[in-house]
Amino acid sequence: MCGIIGIVSDAHSGAREILLNGLERLEYRGYDSAGVALVDESTAIYKTAGRVAALRRMVGASADAGTGIAHTRWATHGPPSETNSHPHKDCKGRVVVVHNGIIENFSTLKKALQDDGHQFVSQTDTEVFAHLFEDELAALDKVDLENATAAFRRTISKLDGQYAIVTSVAGLPGVLFAARSHAPLLAGLADGMTLFASDATAVVEHTKQVVYLEDGDLAVATPEGLHLFDIDGKTIERAPQTISWDIEDAQKGGYDHFMLKEIYDGPRAINDALAGRLFPTPPHVRLELGMDDARLRGIGRILILACGTSFHAGMVGKYVIEKLVGIPVEVAYSSEYRYGSEVREEPGLAVAISQSGETADTLAALREARSRGHTVLSVCNVVGSTIARESDGVLYIQSGPEIGVAATKSFLGQLCALYLLAFRLAEIQGTLPASDLRELERGLQHTSRLVDQVLQKSETIAEQAALIAKADSCFFLGRQVLYPIALEGALKLKEISYIHAEGYSGGELKHGPFALLTPDTPVVALLAPDGVYSKMASNIIEVKARGPQVFIVTTASDTEAEQLGDHVIRVPDTEAIFTPLTHAAALHLLSYHAAAARGCEIDKPRNLAKSVTVE
Ligand code: M6R
Repeated sequence: MCGIIGIVSDAHSGAREILLNGLERLEYRGYDSAGVALVDESTAIYKTAGRVAALRRMVGASADAGTGIAHTRWATHGPPSETNSHPHKDCKGRVVVVHNGIIENFSTLKKALQDDGHQFVSQTDTEVFAHLFEDELAALDKVDLENATAAFRRTISKLDGQYAIVTSVAGLPGVLFAARSHAPLLAGLADGMTLFASDATAVVEHTKQVVYLEDGDLAVATPEGLHLFDIDGKTIERAPQTISWDIEDAQKGGYDHFMLKEIYDGPRAINDALAGRLFPTPPHVRLELGMDDARLRGIGRILILACGTSFHAGMVGKYVIEKLVGIPVEVAYSSEYRYGSEVREEPGLAVAISQSGETADTLAALREARSRGHTVLSVCNVVGSTIARESDGVLYIQSGPEIGVAATKSFLGQLCALYLLAFRLAEIQGTLPASDLRELERGLQHTSRLVDQVLQKSETIAEQAALIAKADSCFFLGRQVLYPIALEGALKLKEISYIHAEGYSGGELKHGPFALLTPDTPVVALLAPDGVYSKMASNIIEVKARGPQVFIVTTASDTEAEQLGDHVIRVPDTEAIFTPLTHAAALHLLSYHAAAARGCEIDKPRNLAKSVTVE
């Protein structure tokens, strides 16, 4: 969950800005402390329990080097503090290391190292690497590149767990060593410099040519390039890939927060998710599913695995696929499925949904699903991510980098991918008349304009959000396809505004949560022109009778909303099946404005990180 970056160049300066700028872009991965090592003839290390901005002030404008490594932390072992911040070093200060992940056997290793006289200064698991490498280097007759590389391999072979590691060795200027196991790491290749980073946002300013390291890969970087090899030292050939987006996509573009920018990227995210996938001639929906037509025709059930917002997208997918294709869809939290009893499951299709493609629970659930015989399709945003690489097929949502911890545009992209999957299955399994399907396809293509219109209501939504911002607790209600959107609205509000929020199905509130309703508990109710409109309307009347202020999100031609609620947010008319897109956009804005009204730190909420790569 931490962000790491390293650079080795043929210059004697420039590393400081590249590392600090890169860290700022990686800060969404963790931000409880930060540190940088500038490696020249000697190594200068700067660390702070604060954020990258504080680190920048600490480093100042004069320190620089051509090589360095840096880290922004989301604490796992040892509380956030200057001492526990990375980089860490060995007893002699010869090895300097940054690490993302967890070294699971660290306590055994640490005990043995301490028994041998090594002095540890931090409580982190990472520090064991520095001391282990120290021992391996000390045993060498001569510390040259070849010997040190072999020592690095021997050190890495002692580690269990998850790691992306980048390290330097004093006496070997212009060299960085790196290794990856179950934590993301890529190398960027540029003229006269080679970089390592947890993700491409940190390097895209300098190069679009990247090599994604895979589990078990080790690497040596010099200004001239990258040498990849395995734990036995066997060279690995891997061609670089070209990043398809620009640095502007990873910047705020004039918005106050990444989250707001990314909410406004919503219409584009819809178009990008649909781009090149809908055609006027059969097959009308063309997706890279990793399955032939016969296999698609035979799919009789689907299992969806995801966490957080991606789970909510999966729940919408369930409603849509069951409605259009008529096959049962189970949606499971990745963290539950991975430890669930092995019931007799017919091998079918498992769909793993993950924006980052690195969520540890979803990755583990994917592996479990595969071991139970399922074909795995993933719906991912980050190209080359672990979940994408371990799947039989990938539906990339193509949303571009999402930096705000709260998922917004990627949620819309995920929904679009799931609509497309439903359309494709309905088409090949013949479960809907062709004319109905064409109508739905056109409807989906139109939704980006509808979301754009929702975003134009930002001011009205902000006024209502200001009222919600005063509450300590809030409920979100929806039914059927809008039930997951109620869950999503609640998750987003609590995540960034710290207002306690719960999402419920409209019918469930009277089975207990009614006890919590007071005039100070706002209720946000979601309405669609669907078969449960009148049921939802009755649920709202029941709520209203208990005193809360009711905020309604509904479509333009709803004639009853004002009688039902105190405040109404109207989104454009659309088929009920597409209201998750319009209503989610409205709720994302609602939480954003509520959090802004409360002065919260929106892009980096407390205790959270963008991708949860630990269990
Ligand atoms: O990268 P993923 O989609 O796998 O992440 C899953 C969740 O951690 C993520 O959606 C989280 O719930 C967001 N912070 C919600 O805004």
